[in-house]
Amino acid sequence: MVTLVRALQSQGFGTRRHCALRVRRGEVAVNGVVCDDPDAEFDQDGLTFMLDGTAWPYRPRAYLAMYKPAGYECSHKPSHHPSVFSLLPPPLIQRGVQCIGRLDQDTTGLLLFSDDGQFQHRMISPKRHVAKIYRATCAAPVTDEQLAALQSGVHLNDEPGPVAALMCERIDGHTLRLALAEGKYHQVKRMIAAAGNHVAALHREAVGAYRLPEEIKPGQWRWLAPDALTRLEQAWPSDPS
Ligand code: URA
Repeated sequence: MVTLVRALQSQGFGTRRHCALRVRRGEVAVNGVVCDDPDAEFDQDGLTFMLDGTAWPYRPRAYLAMYKPAGYECSHKPSHHPSVFSLLPPPLIQRGVQCIGRLDQDTTGLLLFSDDGQFQHRMISPKRHVAKIYRATCAAPVTDEQLAALQSGVHLNDEPGPVAALMCERIDGHTLRLALAEGKYHQVKRMIAAAGNHVAALHREAVGAYRLPEEIKPGQWRWLAPDALTRLEQAWPSDPS
């Protein structure tokens, strides 16, 4: 059981005092019924608040998937473009969701967010080999030699040994699909440059066995259901779906 004021605070609706004020003003409905007692107790399971015309199911931890559009930076303090955080509602920022790994401002596709530090760590740890799957459109036609180099390993500055894709395949003359276990700085662009080509456009299609759902449009986000979390943690899918 949890008091209404604590539950609201934990979900990012502001300080305890601010949440209590809103409750007393009758601005919060719980499971469809207005409740003006901040200390009223509720079972967390199935708890849904209604505030400002939006229904908020109570979630102990937040897990989200966004279709990152081009022209957004993965930083709270962006330098040249708007922040991906500006695409999320304020309570999610307030409760401290962070993006898991970063995509360049011009990269599009699947971007994950959470306020669960252990989950963030598991998703980005190179030891766990959770695959990040990208579609890269190259400026020049992709040669067999370039494909072979990406599969066997290319040399990147500051890396002690060759860096290889977990998987790399040609989709058409200019397009590659490749999977990486790590998320080094500009890794796809640097690997493709080291192989002798240049990335003209980059899109992340999937992480682990979780594919960006088709119904999410650029700039939109969704809560991740438990089955999606399981798929995200599958290290290397034979067929992401
Ligand atoms: N690799 C890159 O070069 N850029 C990204 O945004 C992600 C992976």
